[in-house]
This record gives sequence, C-alpha cells and structure tokens, in this order.
Amino acid sequence: MSNPTPSFCDGAINRILDDLARQGWSVDSNFLPREPVMQLATEARQFKRQGRLRPAAVGKGAERSVHAEIRGDWILWLEEPSLTTAQRAYLERLEALRLAANRTLQLGLFDFEGHLAIYPPGSFYRRHLDRFRRDDRRTLTAILYLNQNWQPADGGLLRLYLDEARHVDVAPRGGTLVVFLSGRFWHEVLPAQRERISVTGWFRTRGDLPA
Ligand code: OGA
Ligand code: MN
Repeated sequence: MSNPTPSFCDGAINRILDDLARQGWSVDSNFLPREPVMQLATEARQFKRQGRLRPAAVGKGAERSVHAEIRGDWILWLEEPSLTTAQRAYLERLEALRLAANRTLQLGLFDFEGHLAIYPPGSFYRRHLDRFRRDDRRTLTAILYLNQNWQPADGGLLRLYLDEARHVDVAPRGGTLVVFLSGRFWHEVLPAQRERISVTGWFRTRGDLPA
C-alpha cells in the first residue's frame, strides 16, 4: 500500500478518532468528495446490472443463510484482483484511518473486509450486531454512503442504538462515512424507498481463529 496519509495532518481522521475515543461512534458527512463517490456508485450499479452482486446472507459457517425478512441487500465483496481504481483509492483512505486508529486508540486493527451493498426499494436490515457468534474479529464498522440527493421521504436511515433510551439516525447521503465499534452498537437499516448504495466493511483484529 502506498504512502498512507499521516494522521497528524488529516483533520477528518483526527475528528473521527476523537469521536471514537469519546463515544465509540462517529459520522463524517464529507469523508469523500462528490466525484469519487459518484464513480463508486456508477460502478456499483454497473456491477449489479452485470449480475455480479448476490443476495446478502446472515451468519457464518453452517449457520450462514439468506433471509430477506432479516436483510434484503445485494452485495459484492471488494477483493483483489478485481478492485477498481476508485475502490482502491477508498481502501487507501481507510488504511490511513486504520493506522491512525491503531496509533492513537490502540485498537489492534489488522485488516479490513468490505463489500458493496445495494438495497433495492422496499428492503431493510433488521436490528443486529456486526459480530458473528463464533468470531469476534470485527472491531470497527465503517460504512460509506454513495447516494446523491437522498431525501427524508427516501427512508433508508441507519438507526444506531446508543443505549436503552437513545438512538441516532444517519441518512445515507453520498460522501457520509459512519464508523462505530462493531461489538457495542446494535443498529438497523430502516426500509429504503429507493435504491440505496453503500460500501460497508469492518476493520478486524487478528483474533485466534484461522483466517
Ligand atoms: C451491515 C449494516 C448498515 C448501513 O451491512 O451490517 O448494518 O447503513 N449496514 O448500510
Ligand atoms: Mn451491520
């Protein structure tokens, strides 16, 4: 990976790390500029048309299965060798965040796994935690939204539960990055009234399971 941006001169990353240290979650409404966001969205729609996305599953190993009544999104894992230039640039930005988080918060983040996600109109993802029953490597969730002109009537909010009494709602507006501790915050995607596109992923610790 080439020259990660040093965190000490990166205001956005510093703000995210401050938020994480204070409250365990952060929303940056301008993490990526409009052009790369539109490029990522265009590619995602193209991949969908080419039939490369698959209905997302829940669970892992023998427990893994597709349940549209739990989640209705379609996904494509971001993997070499098929990364696009725009995807690679976003992953490099995340790499800068990973290194800065390890330096300042000692999170021990070892790698990142992520996928494109498209929620067709009417779909949602019920309340859940981003950790598997038998694999606790997912430590920090990072979601980048790719939707231009998202309106309140479009629904599709990410609802992040802070505790018994409080939640925050995040609109999936293009360029917004939401980051939160994967093992701590229950969350859900409320029904989207129009197609809703994101890059969703997890920074993982090394754990003691084989990769
Ligand atoms: C997930 C998820 C939230 C969102 O994919 O695990 O919770 O806002 N996504 O897309
Ligand atoms: Mn989730």
